[in-house]
Amino acid sequence: MTLKPIICPSLLSSDFSFLARDANYMLDCGADWLHMDVMDGHFVPNLTIGAPVIKSLRKHTTGHLDCHLMVTNPELMIDDFKVAGANSITFHIEATEPRGITQQVIDKIKSSGMKCAISVKPKTPISDIQPYLNQMDFVLIMTVEPGFGGQSFMKDQMEKVRVLRQSHPNLNIQVDGGLDPKTIQDAAEAGANVIVAGSSLFNPNQNPKDTIQLFKDVIN
Ligand code: DX5
Ligand code: ZN
Repeated sequence: MTLKPIICPSLLSSDFSFLARDANYMLDCGADWLHMDVMDGHFVPNLTIGAPVIKSLRKHTTGHLDCHLMVTNPELMIDDFKVAGANSITFHIEATEPRGITQQVIDKIKSSGMKCAISVKPKTPISDIQPYLNQMDFVLIMTVEPGFGGQSFMKDQMEKVRVLRQSHPNLNIQVDGGLDPKTIQDAAEAGANVIVAGSSLFNPNQNPKDTIQLFKDVIN
């Protein structure tokens, strides 16, 4: 593959009371980005962190903060995340398309200077995001129902990655949910190059440095 692998540990699996320590440890282990899962208890049935936590973390790391907004009103949070020091914002098409504001949200993220990505939940077809692909820095194909770490990888979602990869050879395609040393094979084969992993990288029985290197080797 010509696109480089980008490995993004999901800090959802970290010890939130030692967030900066865990984030910088992952970067020391070879991680490329830090994946920050923002959940509002409405778009998904779980509640995590918001811009204030990003702001605190920013003071302790220079890493790329990749913010995955699993929220009903992403448009209301973009400015706060920019000010807090986020580097990329991923929003869900399911949160914007029914209200006809997808393009506005993209414009707002891009004009802020952050990288912009759009995501689909497992039941959403990629035809929904097709009109916006040429404006994207990357896309996120969810490989679990968003909301929780530690779920099983949905292999059937690889068809979406395959189709996207065929039509867009230079697009960064991120996958999120259930990625581990076994499932990485399917993801890489389909054409994903941006890998989010929470529980497999924070697994106390495995050295994250080895797992990150393995992810990179399989993608290359
Ligand atoms: C799920 C989140 C993921 C999650 C992945 O809604 O978007 O980023 O942390 O965790 P694992 O790798 O454990 O499936
Ligand atoms: Zn995520």
